[in-house]
Amino acid sequence: MVKFQRKFEEAEIVYNFDDVILLPRLSKVEPKEIDLKTKFSSNIPINIPLVSSPMDTVTEAEMAIALARHGGIGVIHRNCSADEELELIKTVKRSESFIIKEVITISKEAKVGEAAEIMRKYKISGLPVVEGSKLVGIITGRDVRFTDPSIKVSEAMTKDVVVAEPSITPEEAIELMKKHKVEKLPVVDKERRLVGLITYKDVALRGEYREATRDDEGRLRVAAAVSPFDIERAKLLSKYADALVIDVAHFHNENVIEATKKLVKEVEVDIVIGNLGTKEGVLDSVSRIDRVAGLRVGMGSGSVCITTEVTRAGAPTLFAVAQAADALEEIGVRIPIIADGGVRTPGDVALTIAFGASCAMLGYIFASCKESPSPMTIINGRYFKLHRGMGSQSARQKRMALDRYATFSKEIPEGTEIWVPYRGEVASVISEFVSGVKAAMGYAGASNIVELQERSKVARIASRKEKSTTSQNIEPIK
Ligand code: XMP
Repeated sequence: MVKFQRKFEEAEIVYNFDDVILLPRLSKVEPKEIDLKTKFSSNIPINIPLVSSPMDTVTEAEMAIALARHGGIGVIHRNCSADEELELIKTVKRSESFIIKEVITISKEAKVGEAAEIMRKYKISGLPVVEGSKLVGIITGRDVRFTDPSIKVSEAMTKDVVVAEPSITPEEAIELMKKHKVEKLPVVDKERRLVGLITYKDVALRGEYREATRDDEGRLRVAAAVSPFDIERAKLLSKYADALVIDVAHFHNENVIEATKKLVKEVEVDIVIGNLGTKEGVLDSVSRIDRVAGLRVGMGSGSVCITTEVTRAGAPTLFAVAQAADALEEIGVRIPIIADGGVRTPGDVALTIAFGASCAMLGYIFASCKESPSPMTIINGRYFKLHRGMGSQSARQKRMALDRYATFSKEIPEGTEIWVPYRGEVASVISEFVSGVKAAMGYAGASNIVELQERSKVARIASRKEKSTTSQNIEPIK
């Protein structure tokens, strides 16, 4: 009797966004001086603490490109075949780069008609012409447009090509292109072998998106969701993606941990594990798996989650963040924590950071933007976009991400579908969030993410019944 009764006494209190508030503290900087640089995973720095959910109404290539351009990162969903997911990742990687390494070329012996066809197919405006691996010319849309398609490329191409050395900087490349009025610079080594291509569009975009999340080659960064049980997909995607996110609803599961231990050995990129919700779950996982580079935490708080309603199990996002942060503190390990589920406002993002997160993952908010892959509809003259849980009946019909959920719950939906009011381009939503998070940090007296994690104080908001009384109901807990 007492044993079970004690469960009430020993029960932890779980908090989420509506239960706490950031307390104002002495601020030494103005919001515009606040630095939002943080990390997505151990080896992936990002410039703003925003990440998009791997959901099929949230993140495909367009969303991942937009987020990375503005300093965050997108996680491509896995409710598709491995090849389809790979293509989405490649689209992000191809979208911008300083020096393109996989250059589409044409032989000098080919016909002008073939060159035109390749340009049309890949939507590009020019092709370096090669003889073997050596650069011998360049042929552009202008060269092929008024030329007989049956003549050889070597007769229509420009032979006197302006080239760059592999060590060229973006600034030098722009200068060279302006000087010679060209939009493409083939990159050649000392033997004049073609080793890359620089396009004006790519270098110009680099200047436009200075805060973008890029890899060492200047390409936008992107992460990919995978099942822990699909090592082949993980191996395939890891050749292009910057990080893999082990995407299951309940990571603290013997089979999932064992499968992830094997998967980690097969790939070299950062591995983010999740979702986790308790200190115990984090300690078990981190102690058993090598190279964990990120923790995605929060269970059952998402806008389209019905896990907690259906199962009465869950770990609200703020609680899960605090549990994970305390677990890592206990073992003296630093791994970025990604707060996932239920984030609606910039203040919610700031709160997750105050409790130890490095960044927040958003589904609902990004699903409402133009760049999300979800369909749009008009209801009573207003625009809406679809947002659906990956455990919803309709998402399950694709049967690709079924192993996100435990075997016994496969036939019970754990997610739902909603129409979310359309918010327009993600760039303006990001800028609204960035300003809001900075404003929150200004109030909390933090000039950067680490200060918000370490120095901020929060207060607990009294329950609804007590709320109508005075400010005494706000009690500091940190
Ligand atoms: P928001 O609130 O931003 O949350 O839309 C996004 C997160 O919700 C999780 N997710 C689900 N959780 N059933 C669940 O219990 C589902 O069907 C489902 N689909 C997504 C996921 O963690 C996501 O990042």
